[in-house]
Amino acid sequence: MNVVEVAPALRLQGETSVPGDKSISHRLAMIGSIAEGQTVIHNFAASADCSSTLKCLAGLGVPIDRKGADVVIQGNGLQGLRRPARELDAENSGTTVRLLSGILAGTSFESTFIGDSSLSRRPMKRIIEPLRRFGARLDARDDNFLPMCVQGAPLTAIDYTLPVASAQVKSAVLLAGLQARGTTRVHEAVRSRDHTEIALRQFGAGIQGANGTIEIEGGIALRGGVFSVPGDLSSAAFLIATALAVPGSKIKLSRVGLNPTRSGFITLLQDIGARISVSNVSDGGGEPVGDIVVESSDLDGIDIGAEWVPNVIDEIPVLAVLGTRTRNGVRIRDAAELRSKESDRIRTVAINLRVLGAKVHETPDGLYVPGGQVLSGGRVEAFGDHRIAMAFAVAACFATGPVTIDDASCADVSFPGFFELLEGLVSR
Ligand code: S3P
Repeated sequence: MNVVEVAPALRLQGETSVPGDKSISHRLAMIGSIAEGQTVIHNFAASADCSSTLKCLAGLGVPIDRKGADVVIQGNGLQGLRRPARELDAENSGTTVRLLSGILAGTSFESTFIGDSSLSRRPMKRIIEPLRRFGARLDARDDNFLPMCVQGAPLTAIDYTLPVASAQVKSAVLLAGLQARGTTRVHEAVRSRDHTEIALRQFGAGIQGANGTIEIEGGIALRGGVFSVPGDLSSAAFLIATALAVPGSKIKLSRVGLNPTRSGFITLLQDIGARISVSNVSDGGGEPVGDIVVESSDLDGIDIGAEWVPNVIDEIPVLAVLGTRTRNGVRIRDAAELRSKESDRIRTVAINLRVLGAKVHETPDGLYVPGGQVLSGGRVEAFGDHRIAMAFAVAACFATGPVTIDDASCADVSFPGFFELLEGLVSR
């Protein structure tokens, strides 16, 4: 399914759920692999990225049994991983490389990561630098790109201030800190997603955080557990945006993750008039989960800067597309990080919006999409980026003609079955 055509929608209606959260699935699988005993993960993400993590863990000798969305891992403790017989292929997944490098930094062997062409262009210096400070040896192409070799070593705790607001870098440091001698401290200026901290606590790590500093004690053994992964809010975002934008729509999404470090997409939209209600909130292994009802809404404008960027980083492409439907437009600032994602998301969003006849102002660290614009049909590219493919399926639902998306199957990286699920909610 490489080319998909999405026609304008009359309205969206119905109830559904989205696949398990990608970020949480990666973490539970990795931490379960270095815990002692069995870890059972229900509703494990269907995403291709999370399968890349499982394949890399299997390559490190971890016994993993996967039946549909249920994954059972036999962890063998902090020193239980084995030298891989071949390179670890992370395919398209930055989270796999960056988080797993933190774990591999504390082993007694050497591992080499490779990835696809997109991942091979993404920066790794951001994890190489702190992991070297712990005492590990890392060698990468141009000291920044895959292939990257991680030579594990006995680690000593560090005190580290994140130079980029990145949950992946924070997590790599915490996972190395778990194995280091002493207490590791990480300072972050803006709070990024805290799934690693929550998961580590659930597995019994000595971790605490307050006022932007997280501390982890090294050398504490973890124990396996049973987890159920909430639905992925970053996947739900595409359905929520479509329902908001297509008049007469009302949809319900059940058991979606509502971690406050991720749910800025909902609160920011509620603030500008979105009719989004959340109910049945409960605790799922330390992570809040709830049902979401969305009705089509008139939206005002929105200005997103540094304090919100890490929270909504993955939702910015769809927020930009939705910007055309607002009264006063969507402005994104302080988001140069978007240029280092699966594609340069500032550029690829701008290119595709222009193909559909919209005006967009691109800046080095963001963009401004004026409101009150009508999108036409057209042919856009996904640029190998799952979130670009899905953001433009959203655009198609309220464009005046069909939108053809080239290379649309890359949506599988986070949301296999997305186009079918969207079609199931749409009336024409
Ligand atoms: C992720 C963190 C974010 C996000 C990515 C997943 C994670 O990346 O964009 O999709 O699971 O930690 P950065 O931490 O590099 O911003």
